[in-house]
Amino acid sequence: MTKTWRLDDGHQTLVFASDNGYIPACIYWGQTLLPTENLEALAAATRLDVTGGMLDDNPPLNLCPLSYDSFPGQPGLQLRNQNGQPVICQLRLTDAEAIDGHFNVSASDETNGLSWQAHFEVCPDTGVISCHSSLSSLSPVFVEWLSAPVLPAPQQADEFIEFSGRWCGEFQTSRLPWSAGRRVRNNTTGRSGHEHFPGLYLPCLGASNTCGEVYAMHYGWSGGHGMVAEEMPDGRRQIQFAHAAGSETEAVTEASSARLYLSRSDLGLNGCALAFQRHLREQIVSWPAASLPRPVHYNCWEAVYFDHNIEELTEIAAIAAELGAERFVLDDGWFGRRDDDTSSLGDWQVDARKYPQGLGPLIDSVTSLGMGFGLWFEPEMVNLDSELARAHPDWILGPADQIEGRQQRVLDISKSAVSNYLFEKLHGLLSEYDIGYIKWDHNRVLPSADAAQARAHIQLLKRLRDAHPQVEIESCASGGGRIDFGVLQQTQRVWLSDSNDALERLRIQHDAALFLPAAVTGSHVGPRHCHTSGRVLDINLRAWTAAQRHFGFEMDPRELTSEEAGVLKKVCAWWKQNRDWLFDADILRLDGVDKSIIAEIQVARDASRFVAFVAQVSTSSQILPRPQRLSGLDPDASYEIELLTRESSPRLSRRDLLLKSDSFTASGSWLMQAGLNLPWAFPATIHVIEGRRLD
Ligand code: DGJ
Repeated sequence: MTKTWRLDDGHQTLVFASDNGYIPACIYWGQTLLPTENLEALAAATRLDVTGGMLDDNPPLNLCPLSYDSFPGQPGLQLRNQNGQPVICQLRLTDAEAIDGHFNVSASDETNGLSWQAHFEVCPDTGVISCHSSLSSLSPVFVEWLSAPVLPAPQQADEFIEFSGRWCGEFQTSRLPWSAGRRVRNNTTGRSGHEHFPGLYLPCLGASNTCGEVYAMHYGWSGGHGMVAEEMPDGRRQIQFAHAAGSETEAVTEASSARLYLSRSDLGLNGCALAFQRHLREQIVSWPAASLPRPVHYNCWEAVYFDHNIEELTEIAAIAAELGAERFVLDDGWFGRRDDDTSSLGDWQVDARKYPQGLGPLIDSVTSLGMGFGLWFEPEMVNLDSELARAHPDWILGPADQIEGRQQRVLDISKSAVSNYLFEKLHGLLSEYDIGYIKWDHNRVLPSADAAQARAHIQLLKRLRDAHPQVEIESCASGGGRIDFGVLQQTQRVWLSDSNDALERLRIQHDAALFLPAAVTGSHVGPRHCHTSGRVLDINLRAWTAAQRHFGFEMDPRELTSEEAGVLKKVCAWWKQNRDWLFDADILRLDGVDKSIIAEIQVARDASRFVAFVAQVSTSSQILPRPQRLSGLDPDASYEIELLTRESSPRLSRRDLLLKSDSFTASGSWLMQAGLNLPWAFPATIHVIEGRRLD
């Protein structure tokens, strides 16, 4: 007996089918099917053959495949009882309903006293589908693996794209070939992590940034995830995402996966990217003051580090305001006796040596200059050299002889005494001072994977937001070590990377745009001489790179030459004029065969305007630039095109190209098919091209 269900959102259809009481399987995920489609016929037609050397039927690859059913791959659920023995889960469907954009499934296992649910929810506005699994058990069990609903991966694909990275090198993409066996990622760092961003792109054959069929997934969890991409001996492929194996340390009667976000596209990787960008901006992040523009940041970290001097900071604040900053963020070094990174984490009181009258005088100067004030914290961390560690050594996670990270350890914030202490400290400072913004850092990985810590972090964020709903929070973890849709439900910005090297930043933000919109992605103009790479980069490249996302600057502004200050001011003013439409725009990555180019376009939702950034990150192998095709435009409209950076073309671009001397008009079709003929450029420079539709 076969039962079927379908889920539609106007962008796509998912069809689920269950045979003989098994948990339903997703038997179709693709373009919208006819309303009259016969789902029973599809289920029958989807059934696979059986040949020699196989079981007499194919164990179902359903939303929670089970070893009990002889499933030949990774099961979707792995439990142990309190004696440490494996629980052989025998779940069978009890109920399922697809209604109003939701698909809810329940299954139970009477032998082991288990019940399992899967929940899907569509979002017609963005095309992103979210789903999660949950489990109840009559007696406490250790959850080793509870996958979010398990989905098949496309068969018309020869590779998948996953994410890795490092400090100052976040969001690195790797294309891995599909082959027999299991690719497992298990992130035990306790953070979504530089090393293991919890996302996956599944391109079908021939897909590029701008065309082809692509599927993508993101697991919205900050505590470290596990991912399985597996091709089984029969050729079927499955994808699983769950909390990292080993991160649930207590026996429980209730458990749940995080939300898994799904998108699919017929417009290449960009179709999935823009769905995630829109979904994050419109459905996940809650903005304290949605109607206000995102402010230009100034952050003092790379200007003064721990060397806080109120006169100097006041001078810097005045220059920053003059350059266009609207929010001044006081970074690490203001509390305890924090003169370097060896001490004081945990002692969240203002350092009276540096600020004899508290933070009030600095905040007054900042606000009198028309800027808001933000403050850095690293709440979950402690240095052994701190009042806190001396008073509460038992609040620290992990063994006493652990290897430290940046001379610091992690507080066990799942203990209510610890999270209450932290809440009171932050709440006290937020109540005493006019603070509109927190930069929330997290510089040490956990001593071992611990999902309870990640849940406690979200609870602490929620509690602070309830008490101070007007305060915005930035998620930072040595740069981009804690970025995911889970933490972004409670925060409004991510510090994407500690690399302010514009060449590195271009690449990082380009790949991060597969998930992140400009509105949440911090990007700062760094010092001329980059502190993390040693490169010296021109101010035009530095400023235009930051202007691609949530703009800010973080060098000592006293180092700027008048020419550099002029460029910074000009780009900052451009960004302010454009930010309203930019924050609603889609970021589309542009195709090209020249590996020395990183190019993207940001297109208004109604395609009425765009800005394209074409960066020459190194020297091309051919002499002349190849035409740069654009994307996402209205093919039937005419656009007036202008090269904003024409003044920075070098003398070696010897011809009076049209774009260098004038604007011109071309159709969206021509721009997307022929492409723009840009001036020859030095490496480490950038072209910025604006376009407006002529109505
Ligand atoms: C790491 C962050 O990523 C930096 O931006 C800065 O805030 C330092 N921590 C401060 O210690």
